[in-house]
Amino acid sequence: MKYYKKLIGKKCYLSPISLQDAEKYCEWLNDLEVTKYTLLFRQQLSLQSERNILEQLQETGNYIFSIVDLQNDELIGNCSLFDVNHRNRKAMFGILIGNKKYWNRGFGTEATKLILDFGFNILNLHNIMLEVFDFNKRAIKAYQKAGFKIIGKRREAMILAGKKYDEILMDAIASEFDSIFIKENLEF
Ligand SMILES: CC(C)(COP(=O)(O)OP(=O)(O)OC[C@H]1O[C@@H](n2cnc3c(N)ncnc32)[C@H](O)[C@@H]1OP(=O)(O)O)[C@@H](O)C(=O)NCCC(=O)NCCS
Repeated sequence: MKYYKKLIGKKCYLSPISLQDAEKYCEWLNDLEVTKYTLLFRQQLSLQSERNILEQLQETGNYIFSIVDLQNDELIGNCSLFDVNHRNRKAMFGILIGNKKYWNRGFGTEATKLILDFGFNILNLHNIMLEVFDFNKRAIKAYQKAGFKIIGKRREAMILAGKKYDEILMDAIASEFDSIFIKENLEF
């Protein structure tokens, strides 16, 4: 697969998503170890439906990027800004590193910083928000390191295997964000 270095960090870069990766995404999205942290584990996902979803995502004003290892060009996951509202300059954020050997190595933190930089400094967004289950400690830590703050929670909003969990809400705003990419590359 050919990827394009749209936003480059020290460990990874973000490339426009490729429909040819649908099979890889389908594999990840059928792996409960990966999807138990997301809302996707209840979905019945076939290769064809994943292709359709990717096509729709590209057409509906979302910004969805492949996360690629800078060293070896291996696909490790994807991240996106969706529900983009340009009038109020806000959007939602989501990320999935499906390639489990890359967990806990700083890639999620860096990819999150890169897409925040893109959202704040290229799309001129002001507020970017996410939802995460309270048991996903790794994600919460990565988001905090990238610049998100906890702003509240929706109580007992996730029921899984007989237990109830809270949904944590986090947001980041442009005025508090320290750019890692744009300042070096796009300031004149
Ligand atoms: C969540 C995700 C994006 C994080 O990316 P990552 O590259 O694994 O995370 P990072 O290495 O950048 O940061 C994780 C941090 O959490 C810490 N951590 C890991 N497990 C933890 C735990 N159980 N409790 C507290 N901290 C934990 C790590 O030590 C690291 O912090 P450090 O760098 O200060 O040591 C990625 O793991 C992923 O996609 N997981 C599966 C799907 C998912 O959870 N998606 C998000 C849904 S909201």
